[in-house]
Amino acid sequence: PKIRVTDREGDEYLIEADVGISVMENLRDHDFGVEAICGGCCSCATCHVFVDDAWLPKLQPKSEAEAELVGETIFHKPNSRLSCQIRMTPDLDGLALTIAPEE
Ligand code: FES
Repeated sequence: PKIRVTDREGDEYLIEADVGISVMENLRDHDFGVEAICGGCCSCATCHVFVDDAWLPKLQPKSEAEAELVGETIFHKPNSRLSCQIRMTPDLDGLALTIAPEE
């Protein structure tokens, strides 16, 4: 599956994603500046992304921990997600997201 990524400069990329790992892990291997300092344990929010609205219903809902942490970020919006909390699956082929600004 592919992920359609808009980086912090507004440039769009189509990346080949691996399934069974998180979206964050797929993003981290590229040059998008996703630091993922906590390694995916939902405590740093440096994997913050904005998911295109059309894709939001296809994702597993936020856990309480994710909702709380992402809600504390400066740039959070209704379509904010922590990409380490989204597991990449084949049916997410075409998932479109934007990397959130650095805090
Ligand atoms: Fe730290 Fe997602 S990688 S919260």
